Amino acid sequence: MNPALNPLVLNLKESATLSINMKALELRKNGKDVCHFGFGQSPFPIPENIQQALRDNSHRKAYLPTQGLPELLDVIASFYKKEFGYNFSSKNVVVGPGSKELIFQTLYLLEGPLLVPSPSWVSYGPQAALRGKKVIQVETSRENSYKLTADELDRMAHKVGHKQMVLILNNPNNPTGAVYTDDEMKELAQICRAYNIIVISDEIYAMIDYTGNGQASMYKYFPENTIVTGGMSKSFAAGGYRFGLMMIPDELSQVMDSLKSIISETFSSVCAPVQYAALEAYGNFDSIRPFIKKTCEIYKFSSEYLHERFISMGLNCPKPEGAFYMFPDFENFKGRLPNNIMTGVGLCSHLLNEYGIALLPGSDFYFPATNMGVRVAGVDFDGEDVYSRWEEGKLYGSDDAVKFFPNMVRGCDRLKGFLSEL
Ligand SMILES: Cc1ncc(COP(=O)(O)O)c(C=O)c1O
Repeated sequence: MNPALNPLVLNLKESATLSINMKALELRKNGKDVCHFGFGQSPFPIPENIQQALRDNSHRKAYLPTQGLPELLDVIASFYKKEFGYNFSSKNVVVGPGSKELIFQTLYLLEGPLLVPSPSWVSYGPQAALRGKKVIQVETSRENSYKLTADELDRMAHKVGHKQMVLILNNPNNPTGAVYTDDEMKELAQICRAYNIIVISDEIYAMIDYTGNGQASMYKYFPENTIVTGGMSKSFAAGGYRFGLMMIPDELSQVMDSLKSIISETFSSVCAPVQYAALEAYGNFDSIRPFIKKTCEIYKFSSEYLHERFISMGLNCPKPEGAFYMFPDFENFKGRLPNNIMTGVGLCSHLLNEYGIALLPGSDFYFPATNMGVRVAGVDFDGEDVYSRWEEGKLYGSDDAVKFFPNMVRGCDRLKGFLSEL
């Protein structure tokens, strides 16, 4: 039988990041040596006290309140107050099975088109499209590290001219590793206020920042209309626990009310033992702080290593300053690529099939098919082993990279080999 499907799902394909991961793992299983720059997941083990909290609470079988365990909501609000200076209280916090789901439900309930900088994370567009929402890309430039500028946002918001618009801004950024400065955020906030834009500030990488300047957030400059998201997937290394959170200001309390209703009619509440693990993570953050500090140091080193290698091969690539991604492009090699490759997808397939290098094409991040940018996730290493051998504060040089990140070094060597033959 050919069931009739909702027309909004007909064009939906599996998320690009998840499918490249499956393909790369499949190739590996079949004995192919793959350097996997395709999937962004923390390689580090989850801090032991979080794991212990999960084990200790495995007997908890009751459904929890829709919004989340009350003491957890308190602890999250205090954590964000102390660590980030945010002014949310527990009634502003809601938890979900990953921030991805909370973003989806929020896009679902909000009217108005979605503005996304290009490039942006793969899932925003499909999530909005699933609800029939118009997705409007706002251009950025490589020269500005693909960061959205106030001028460009102003131009686009003016052009769209919709009464209610939603902007989603991710900082530190996937796919570019860019980190906004306070001044940049302040300028963007002025434009958002002028157009009364509702902002979803995706701060899932908030604690993976190598600038040391602290998180520049839209919330600081436009608190009345900014919804902040975060979770345990990245800095706490617990993506598979599926724990995300969202903080919604009082001024948008109708969003919170509606979100709670949707949650109550869909996933009901986050898995109970996971909420107790989150209670440990956010409530006992001082015990986890050293882990975050050390893992950031490792990410900084590995990202800077990859960046230097890419630049020395002749790729263009803004320097990453946070998260664990970067966005090099092959524009300098256009016209010289084998098999008359003209698209990012063609390039990535060639590199995966012929060189065992897994990358994601720019077209998965709202760039045109002919764009030769690719997203690199710099996490293909054994996090447990690297974490145990890494000496904090020690000045490592690029010669040390192979000791810690052999797959990534091999991936760079292969890429260099490919480019040198062009
Ligand atoms: C930019 C960005 N936002 C949100 C998410 C979703 O994270 P989670 O649903 O695990 O909280 C991810 C995960 O890859 C991401 O890269």
